[in-house]
Amino acid sequence: MIIAVAAKKDEDCVIKDREYFLFDAGLSTSMLILRATELGLVAHPIAGYSPSKAKEVLNIPKQYKLITLINIGKHSKQVKDVLSEKQIKDEKRRPKRKDHKEFIFHNVFNNSL
Ligand SMILES: Cc1cc2nc3c(=O)[nH]c(=O)nc-3n(C[C@H](O)[C@H](O)[C@H](O)COP(=O)(O)O)c2cc1C
Repeated sequence: MIIAVAAKKDEDCVIKDREYFLFDAGLSTSMLILRATELGLVAHPIAGYSPSKAKEVLNIPKQYKLITLINIGKHSKQVKDVLSEKQIKDEKRRPKRKDHKEFIFHNVFNNSL
């Protein structure tokens, strides 16, 4: 299953130059991914698609930004041989995560915990 996440700026909170529609769509997406995971599924958001083509196929009005597609499926123990060697490797190990010290600060920006 592929879920398309689209949002429109003026249907959400706008305070001067702060526009929250992308943030809120991200929040919803994270909850959706958590729920899918809780159900034993695998959910991956992707940015690698043509927004104009996808919007056309899905009939999404021009004013909406197509933010992500979420690919949802069941985990397979077998790795498909259509994948490249790199993709097969990536399937078997999780990407490295940044250390929290790099983005969580105390009191002021850049003051690592
Ligand atoms: C904004 C965003 C865009 C992404 N776009 C792609 C993509 O186009 N293709 C892809 O294979 N993975 C993409 N990913 C990565 C996958 O969704 C997923 O996070 C990755 O495979 C690692 O999975 P894991 O976090 O469960 O280890 C994207 C992730 C984010 C947050």
